Amino acid sequence: MTRSLPAPVAAAAATKPAGQDLPLPTPGGPRPLVKLEAVEKVYQMGATEVRALDGISLDIMPGAFWAIMGPSGSGKSTLLNLLGCLDRPTAGQYVLNGQNVGQMDDDALSELRLRELGFVFQSFNLIPQLTVRENIELPLFYLGWDAHVSAARAAELAERVGLKDRLTHRPTQLSGGQQQRVAIARALVNDPPVLLADEPTGNLDTATGEQIMALLGELNASGKTIIMVTHESDIAAHARFRLHLRDGRIDRVEGR
Ligand SMILES: Nc1ncnc2c1ncn2[C@@H]1O[C@H](COP(=O)(O)OP(=O)(O)OP(=O)(O)O)[C@@H](O)[C@H]1O
Ligand SMILES: [Mg+2]
Repeated sequence: MTRSLPAPVAAAAATKPAGQDLPLPTPGGPRPLVKLEAVEKVYQMGATEVRALDGISLDIMPGAFWAIMGPSGSGKSTLLNLLGCLDRPTAGQYVLNGQNVGQMDDDALSELRLRELGFVFQSFNLIPQLTVRENIELPLFYLGWDAHVSAARAAELAERVGLKDRLTHRPTQLSGGQQQRVAIARALVNDPPVLLADEPTGNLDTATGEQIMALLGELNASGKTIIMVTHESDIAAHARFRLHLRDGRIDRVEGR
């Protein structure tokens, strides 16, 4: 004679052991766009070692807005240069958008910079002989885009930053804030996932600086990941997270 198990026992037998009900990691879930693991940058100056970065571990998720802060000499520019693939760590690991930067040669690094990163500098770094449109187009030229497509894309970006009626001006014919807008348009022209900014309002008056921060805020709201160095707390307040460096180490992270 066969007997079926009483219902509660059958239900219990069908249940997985407790440990198997834990949520599994989702392989397709969000992963950091920028991942630093125990990154060091050491300069050998004769007999002395300068530890410009001394064990930085940091995850920056897609769509985040970070400010890097800290006293003079704390390692802000060194960190931004590493993030920007202008330099390599002396120890530790940097993975940008799934690519291990430490293992790349110079050509691969240049290619990576063009595709993944846009740069905005304190001194704008526009080319004086070129018009606004030509300055914005420059990264597309290096990427080998068709000239007509590039011109249309540059015009679209100029409009995005509020300069559609300045396409044929040269940098000297623009205000400081307008020059920085051109630099931002140039940094975004090929839609890189990360925008790096080094003191982007450092050469601007307070009101113009606020306008540039409003533009960066809009770009972040539309999904762009932004990492910005600043020593001004008013400017850093626009970022979601603030990383404070001290002597090449993370002193603290503030954020919401
Ligand atoms: N090329 C280099 N060779 C040797 N030492 C360097 C080099 N670049 C930077 N350093 C040293 O590394 C440390 C960090 O410098 P870094 O330029 O990153 O500071 P910072 O936070 O950007 O400062 P600031 O606010 O003054 O721009 C400093 O002690 C600096 O002297
Ligand atoms: Mg600096």
